[in-house]
Formats: sequence, structure tokens, C-alpha cells
Amino acid sequence: MWIIANWKSNKNITEALSWVDEVGPQIPRNEALKVVVCPTVMCIEDVKKAVIVNGYHLTVGAQDLSSFDEGAYTGEEAARILKDVVDISILGHSERRQHFNETDETVAEKVAQAKQYNIESLVCCQDENTPVPLGVKLVAYEPVFAIGTGTPDTPQNANNVAKLLKDKHGSELEVLYGGSVTSENAKAYLSQENISGLLIGKSSLDTTEFIKIVEIADNLL
Ligand code: PGA
Repeated sequence: MWIIANWKSNKNITEALSWVDEVGPQIPRNEALKVVVCPTVMCIEDVKKAVIVNGYHLTVGAQDLSSFDEGAYTGEEAARILKDVVDISILGHSERRQHFNETDETVAEKVAQAKQYNIESLVCCQDENTPVPLGVKLVAYEPVFAIGTGTPDTPQNANNVAKLLKDKHGSELEVLYGGSVTSENAKAYLSQENISGLLIGKSSLDTTEFIKIVEIADNLL
């Protein structure tokens, strides 16, 4: 089961480290529970060091990566460089599609870059029709209406979409749900047959709320 924190464009280094200091020691050492934090690129290295030094059961990920390989691409974060500090990357988040003109084609290029440098791709699907590039093993169903709105999809519908995605791309595909997840509703999604975890924005910024969700997941395993 996956619990993934997507901080988006939040937290400076001090705030990021204080989150890790608080959350890190409370993450259960359960091999079946994969807790991931995706800070801004600026904070990734410090977060990673804190995790390693303290031996926390926490994986560090990126929120995006470049569709290009290393080279003359000003401002881009290439997979080959990110690889030193991350194991996984969110790709094709709807905010990137909306504000940064990402298309299904660029997402496919990013997935190829991630694959080349051994970074696991977590592809965000806005619905069951979002293309999932071949070889992707992890996706998040995140309906646009539910992101940051306080209006999540129902657990039943999220489960149905997860099932459709698995039918389309293979039963080994793991599908997470994301969109207005809180400690109040987390259990209902995690209890669904076809849902393998959560991608959490706002509720991941608050340590108490995030730890509660991690505990809920741990108790279901
Ligand atoms: P939210 O964001 O939890 O704040 O709705 C989820 C996401 O965008 O991944």
C-alpha cells in the first residue's frame, strides 16, 4: 500500500526538515507500507539526507522531471540528475497539464526518461481514458474536480475507475486515489478492492493529519 505526499509548491527547507523530523520517526517499519514524500526540487536533497541519516522508512520522490535528457535545457530537472536523490516521480499531474501545457505526449517522454534512469513513474490519470504509457506500473486516479476542492470523488466511483484502468492496462497495475483526501475519508478509499493507496496534496502538508493517514493505512495491513 502506498501513501504519497505531494507537497506541490509549498515548504521551504526549514519547513521541510521540520516535517521530516516530526513525521519520520512515526512511520511504521512495515514493508507492505510505502510512504513517499515529494518535496520541491529545492528541498529534495536536504530531505533525502535527513531520511538517510535517521534511517526513516520514507522514500523521497519528485513532483515532475524533464522530458529531455541532460543538456542545454535551461531550468529543467533531468532524470539523470534527479536519480541521485529520488526513486520515484509524479508525472502528468493535472496542475502541470493545466498551468504548464503538459500533454499526453510530454508525459510519455517523461516516462521514458524516468525509465532510462531507473526512476519509478507515478502517472496521474484524470479519468480512465488518460493514456498510460507502456511499462508504467503505478498510476493515480485524480479527477480534476476533486483536486484541492474539498469535494472528493466517492470511494465507490474511484474504485470503479481503478478497475477500468486495471482492465485496460493489466491487473498488475497499481492504482492510487488522489483528490481531497483527509484523515476522515482515507479509510474508505484504502478499503476499496482496486485501490492500492493515496496521493495526498493539502492533507500531506500538516504533520498531524498526514501521520493519522499513515496510521490508518498501517492498521489496514
Ligand atoms: P489535494 O491534492 O489532496 O490537495 O486535493 C491532491 C493532488 O493534487 O495530488
